[in-house]
Amino acid sequence: MQRTVFQILREAGDRPVMPLSCRHLARGLKHGLMLLCRGQWRELQIRLRIALGQIDLKVDPSETVSERTHYYADSGGLAFDRILANFAISAADAIVDFGCGKGGVLISLSKYPFSRITGVEISPDLADIARDNIRKLRISNVDIRCCDAADFKQLDTYNYFYFFDPFPSVVMAGVLGNIEQSLARQPRKVTLIYLNPFCHDLIEAGQVFSKTATLDHFEHDCFIYSNRS
Ligand SMILES: C[S@@+](CC[C@H](N)C(=O)[O-])C[C@H]1O[C@@H](n2cnc3c(N)ncnc32)[C@H](O)[C@@H]1O
Repeated sequence: MQRTVFQILREAGDRPVMPLSCRHLARGLKHGLMLLCRGQWRELQIRLRIALGQIDLKVDPSETVSERTHYYADSGGLAFDRILANFAISAADAIVDFGCGKGGVLISLSKYPFSRITGVEISPDLADIARDNIRKLRISNVDIRCCDAADFKQLDTYNYFYFFDPFPSVVMAGVLGNIEQSLARQPRKVTLIYLNPFCHDLIEAGQVFSKTATLDHFEHDCFIYSNRS
């Protein structure tokens, strides 16, 4: 389908696909100009390629959910950058995006100096699209594992874990158990960044993590948790 210049400008300003309005168009123009003025060519290029459909982050309405999965959606982009601005990321940090989908957040994370960025995705189709997106953008510091999140247990080198409402409590319980075992092996400070925190009560009930902040996100709650010392 032919995309209009208005659609491209709007989506260049932000990722979520919303009905075109003057407000969104103005925001797209504002953010595009802001990136130009700051000389953020790489970011502008990524946003335009997403808007042009060269990088596939689209939601598929025919997607089904199961007892171990929630839907795919993309949370990368400016709203995610606003969340990450609250952390002083350095090369001492490493992050897992549990349920990485098509890699939208991995693309956003690749701008920060993490030593390691790993996406875990249960759907082979989505994992393949994520790999393709990462390859097209020539991003080299990201790796993608295709498995159930609860089966990814090599967590000792990571200190940040990101979740955008990827799965129900039955999976989250397994993932939290794996993180807790990793903390017992390798004590360290760990931060959970949880957008749309469906399993908040489960985390609080676990006694290992407590909520330390609620961050500004234009669409969802974003809760931050740290392990209790
Ligand atoms: C809401 S999307 C988030 C995508 C990406 N993290 C982002 O924020 O843009 C959730 C993703 O989690 C994946 N997922 C669901 N259940 C999973 C499971 N048990 N193990 C691994 N991935 C899972 C889904 O296939 C979907 O791609």
